[in-house]
Amino acid sequence: MGEDLAVLQAEFPAFRIWEEQMPGRVRYVARSRADGVNPHTVIAADLDELRGALQPSPAASSGEHAVCTTEPNIARMYAYWLQGKDHYAADRAAASRILERFPEVAEVARANRAFVTRAVRYLADHGITQFIDIGSGLPASPNVHETARSITPGARVVYVDLDPVVLAHARALLAVDDNIGVVAGDVRDPARLLRAVAGTGVIDSIRPTGVLLTSLLHFLTAAEADAAMAVLREWMAPGSYLVISTGTSTGTDPELIRLLQDAYGGTAPVTGRTETEIAAWFDGLTLVDPGLVDVWAWRPATWRRPVTARARFLAGVGFKAPETAPWSP
Ligand SMILES: C[S@@+](CC[C@H](N)C(=O)[O-])C[C@H]1O[C@@H](n2cnc3c(N)ncnc32)[C@H](O)[C@@H]1O
Repeated sequence: MGEDLAVLQAEFPAFRIWEEQMPGRVRYVARSRADGVNPHTVIAADLDELRGALQPSPAASSGEHAVCTTEPNIARMYAYWLQGKDHYAADRAAASRILERFPEVAEVARANRAFVTRAVRYLADHGITQFIDIGSGLPASPNVHETARSITPGARVVYVDLDPVVLAHARALLAVDDNIGVVAGDVRDPARLLRAVAGTGVIDSIRPTGVLLTSLLHFLTAAEADAAMAVLREWMAPGSYLVISTGTSTGTDPELIRLLQDAYGGTAPVTGRTETEIAAWFDGLTLVDPGLVDVWAWRPATWRRPVTARARFLAGVGFKAPETAPWSP
């Protein structure tokens, strides 16, 4: 047993903490000795990250947020709308309050998740074999690697999120082999996030990559989102694709945006950007057909009428064309 592990065990006597050998890597698990404790089980890639998840304040400095079950949480409210099982009373209450006034929000969440699957299929069909899923959320079948691997069996995926519950689930359920990485990262610090992705060794940054930010960017301020997108677009190798879905203020009932702002409270802002502002996130890229459209209208397998005109969610996929040799006479 390493000294650091022993130190952590002494520091958190309420948890059983051990190291597990996985194919090609180790992971660390902490499990509460008592029931009803949150977090009950934490799985982390290294001991610093484990300490961060068990101890609220250092978590913030590791880019990973502390677990809080009394405030509505982005990933868990979304899981509730998707009829997933990982949510607490505070999430259900906040998510239900929104559904009372805007029942179509659950349908929009499902349409978004279906878009993720169609977009990943599209990328895999067009030769993309490595993906970064930023703001990946709680596992939701099919997950990105499952869709990609249905087309390219060896596809590589790094899942990134700042929520320790999301990361624990991802490590336990999604990191099934060495070609899948799970890292803590905050898109508001994109350079650090990209360093964490590089640290997994899963993604080769000089090769085309599918970069996904779905149902994420409306949780940033306008300045944070614009700055993050500039860094990510620059990082993407030629031949890469950028996949975005996001809520928009264009055509959305302002009351829904206000309700969402109230629901997420101190956790995150909810910023409604216009269609034009969202289109600017694809600057320098070529939007693939049909362009930036309502999420249900992006290459649907079967045409469906929109369920709502009150809660608009836009989706688009941008291609970074390989540079062509400059023309010379
Ligand atoms: C609504 S879920 C979307 C899940 C998935 N991308 C999808 O479209 O189905 C948004 C996720 O983004 C994560 N998130 C929120 N702010 C973030 C940030 N600044 N950096 C990274 N992840 C963030 C949340 O923790 C949550 O898991």
